[in-house]
Amino acid sequence: MASTSDPKNLDDLLDRNVLWAQRKTRDDPTYFVRMSGLQTPKYLWIGCSDSRVTANDVLDLDPGEVFVHRNIANVAHTSDMNLLAVLEYAVEVLRVKHVIVCGHYGCGGIERALGDDRSALVDYWLQPIVMFYRKHRTVFEALPDRQARLDLMCEINIEMQVRRVAATPIVENAWVQGRSLQIHGWIYGMADGLLRDLGPTLTSLAERDAAVSIDERLLQPVEPRSGVRRHAIEAFAPLGREL
Ligand code: CO
Repeated sequence: MASTSDPKNLDDLLDRNVLWAQRKTRDDPTYFVRMSGLQTPKYLWIGCSDSRVTANDVLDLDPGEVFVHRNIANVAHTSDMNLLAVLEYAVEVLRVKHVIVCGHYGCGGIERALGDDRSALVDYWLQPIVMFYRKHRTVFEALPDRQARLDLMCEINIEMQVRRVAATPIVENAWVQGRSLQIHGWIYGMADGLLRDLGPTLTSLAERDAAVSIDERLLQPVEPRSGVRRHAIEAFAPLGREL
């Protein structure tokens, strides 16, 4: 762990960097030579800023393999110049074929949206989630407890953002031109380190337009969410672990 008793002195972090660079070079002498070339990531990751969910780590990918945009609660505001610039660059220049919107269970942003405190700037950011929760409060309140409400809102938020990304002119334009581009919705489990595919995976204008609205989606039965945990169950089956 890095310790920073003097806030002006981050030498320990710089020292760690030197050791890291040495270790990388020792293990793979051409690592930085390769990294200094052009980046050609195949994926765009739109994730939460949460410090525990870093795309390269959970995907076990090297630098250069995934283009990343993160914000609180992985929200796709369609007026967010930051997100739109990243999305456009990923789709138009890097020509990624997959956009992964990935949230996580236990998201502090979602927890905030489900609470009553509206005193911070982040509450403007979270407003689409707050509005959705208020609109469907009776559905959420029918769930057994607060944890279940939080889990469901974490899942639904991801699906909402998949639809929002798919509605941007950037994605629409790529699909109109017949280019291969898939928008995925995944959720990360803090407790087991596993990613689950929530769906829907949208791959065309027709699929996007045929997908049920997020309001309809909420009203569909959610238990059991067939397929959501299949990957996780398969991963742990050889270890004899129950999820
Ligand atoms: Co979060």
